[in-house]
Amino acid sequence: MAARRLLITGGAGFIGANFTHHWCARHPDDRVVVLDSLTYAGNRASLEALEADDRYRFVQADIVDTDAVRALLREEDLDTVVHFAAESHVDRSIHGPAEFVRTNVVGTWSMLDACRLEWPTESERRYHFHHVSTDEVYGSLAPDDPAFREDRQYEPNSPYAASKAGSDHLVRAYHHTYGMSVTTSNCSNNYGPYQFPEKLIPLMIVNLLTGKDLPVYGDGRNVRDWLHVQDHCAGIEAVIERGRVDQTYNIGGDNEWTNIDLVHQLCALMDEAFAADSDLAARFADALPARGQQSAESIKFVKDRLGHDRRYAIDGNKIADELGFKASIGFAEGLRSTLAWYLDNESWWRAVMDGSYRDWVAKQY
Ligand code: NAD
Ligand code: TYD
Repeated sequence: MAARRLLITGGAGFIGANFTHHWCARHPDDRVVVLDSLTYAGNRASLEALEADDRYRFVQADIVDTDAVRALLREEDLDTVVHFAAESHVDRSIHGPAEFVRTNVVGTWSMLDACRLEWPTESERRYHFHHVSTDEVYGSLAPDDPAFREDRQYEPNSPYAASKAGSDHLVRAYHHTYGMSVTTSNCSNNYGPYQFPEKLIPLMIVNLLTGKDLPVYGDGRNVRDWLHVQDHCAGIEAVIERGRVDQTYNIGGDNEWTNIDLVHQLCALMDEAFAADSDLAARFADALPARGQQSAESIKFVKDRLGHDRRYAIDGNKIADELGFKASIGFAEGLRSTLAWYLDNESWWRAVMDGSYRDWVAKQY
């Protein structure tokens, strides 16, 4: 395979940053350009280790700005787009849906149209658009329903899910109408390094370390299928390299947990970590285990999220059978290493939470 020239949108976000590191490590001959507007969720600090790498370039721009995207495609002769950029948090979409329509629907249209206008019309597979989407487009499952397959009807319930569903349909339409080479992946809940502490797992870790309550929505019995972000990156890579054009692939962890069981697991891991390392009590004096209490004492059931989907689960047979992909990181191991990452990278999460990483970045570059 000839070297690729990649445009990664949203590469300063959680999954995009992990994917950028993953791709650069595994494809030493490829050019990698990250385009990101650096919203509250985008942190250039997450890509710091690549700043000195000649193969890599960071461009601050908005995906809605079609002309800027077109100019970049031309200037860098980019042939592969991996589209992560999005507003991604369900709770924010409930309070402010407009930004989700702008970024996820209009922004995805803008990315597709920039590619349509700059790439050869009879696009071979060399010019390819991969769209990163979510299992939330399928709606909510009852306890005994079969897991989501790719042919399941779309029934998005939150403004976030609806905006992602709209973007998926645009990707499909650009293949059917203009012949663009496209693939889409619909993934379950991710966790791992560099995740903004508003999503369940990093929020709970940070709240535990800073002595805050752990807010569990409703009865805590909602179920999610958790996948380590490194597995997600490997799944996307398999689709880009070997996926069939115009196909969608579901990516999941075959790893369903109720929120309350997951939070209890995290609490137990936190207590273990404090018991094993006496320095932690000095560093995080407000954490309950630093004061001889158990982390789980800070669990608080709070008012439920509006329209809260009860259960998501992925049927991963298509990507396993066609592309040989299966998640490989066990949940106990993945949670433990994620907690270790947040313990080792306190300055990262403190800076992204208060926005001060921007000053740090301004000093570096
Ligand atoms: P994130 O919120 O951490 O990062 C989003 C990134 O997009 C940020 O760097 C942000 O600055 C950038 N961005 C936002 N608006 C932009 C714009 N208008 N122009 C340019 N850049 C912009 O998101 P994430 O969790 O890394 O999710 C990445 C993608 O994966 C999203 O498309 C999301 O829908 C999808 N996804 C996420 C999960 C999950 O569990 N996090 C699961 C399945 C699918
Ligand atoms: P989240 O990480 O926001 O992902 P998503 O809504 O996309 O699945 O939430 C995961 C689950 O955790 C979801 O059922 C909502 C629940 N949740 C809480 O109970 N408390 C919280 O503070 C958050 C952020 C989420």
